[in-house]
Amino acid sequence: MMMKGHAILFVLVGLLVSEAYSQAPDKPEKEMASLKLELELLKNSYRQLCQKYTDVAANCSAPAFKCTECPDKWLHVGEQCFFMSPDRQDFATSKQKCQEIGGHLAILTNAEDHDAVEKEGRRIGGLYTNYWIGLTDIETEGIWKWVDDSPLLRSFWNLEKHEPDNNVSGGEEGEDCAVVDSYSQSWYDVPCNFSYPRICQKDASAIP
Ligand SMILES: *[C@@H]1O[C@H](CO)[C@@H](O)[C@H](O)[C@H]1NC(C)=O
Ligand SMILES: *[C@@H]1O[C@H](CO)[C@@H](O)[C@H](O)[C@H]1NC(C)=O
Ligand SMILES: *[C@@H]1O[C@H](CO)[C@@H](O)[C@H](O)[C@H]1NC(C)=O
Repeated sequence: MMMKGHAILFVLVGLLVSEAYSQAPDKPEKEMASLKLELELLKNSYRQLCQKYTDVAANCSAPAFKCTECPDKWLHVGEQCFFMSPDRQDFATSKQKCQEIGGHLAILTNAEDHDAVEKEGRRIGGLYTNYWIGLTDIETEGIWKWVDDSPLLRSFWNLEKHEPDNNVSGGEEGEDCAVVDSYSQSWYDVPCNFSYPRICQKDASAIP
């Protein structure tokens, strides 16, 4: 009788163990799927709350809160990311280098973006650094255009120095490309074949 009882117990335990093993790889998968779903839902509420916070905060001048993100080492301004390169290149190479990292030379259409990159330029490069921005009149002298072909509407030229002056001291072609100067915090036109560090720009991405 005792043996029979043991035998039944062994069989039962054996069945339970094999059952448990056959379910084991299954269970974490299901758990993972439901965790992933929960994460997606949380991200959605986060995005909605973040947007709501931004709207309300703007109305009571509370500090801004970022609902988007920029790659490491990029400056986050509004919904835009800016990168100040450590290396110096001519304008054409700089334009290409920004494209290679999924962006473009900076298009500074408002004071917020302009002031933010000037400040960062001074912080990184000191007082006497020029940085390329995506502005040129190389196609038609005097008609300044951004690298996305949009016209120049708001400008921050150094008017005290009568910029842009197309000064021919840099070569017979004059000065067809633009830099931000971190000392005067304004723009100068310079020869496109000079070498300067650049400011690249791309859209900030939604928090993934
Ligand atoms: C913020 O203020 C504007 C203008 O006063 C108003 O139209 C808008 O509904 C307000 N937004 C929020 C989220 O309170
Ligand atoms: C052009 O640049 C040279 C050298 O930087 C400078 O001496 C000269 O005054 C500039 N000309 C004008 C019209 O600004
Ligand atoms: C830029 O090009 C001009 C010719 O247009 C040349 O005289 C000058 O030396 C070049 N400058 C540099 C820094 O390459």
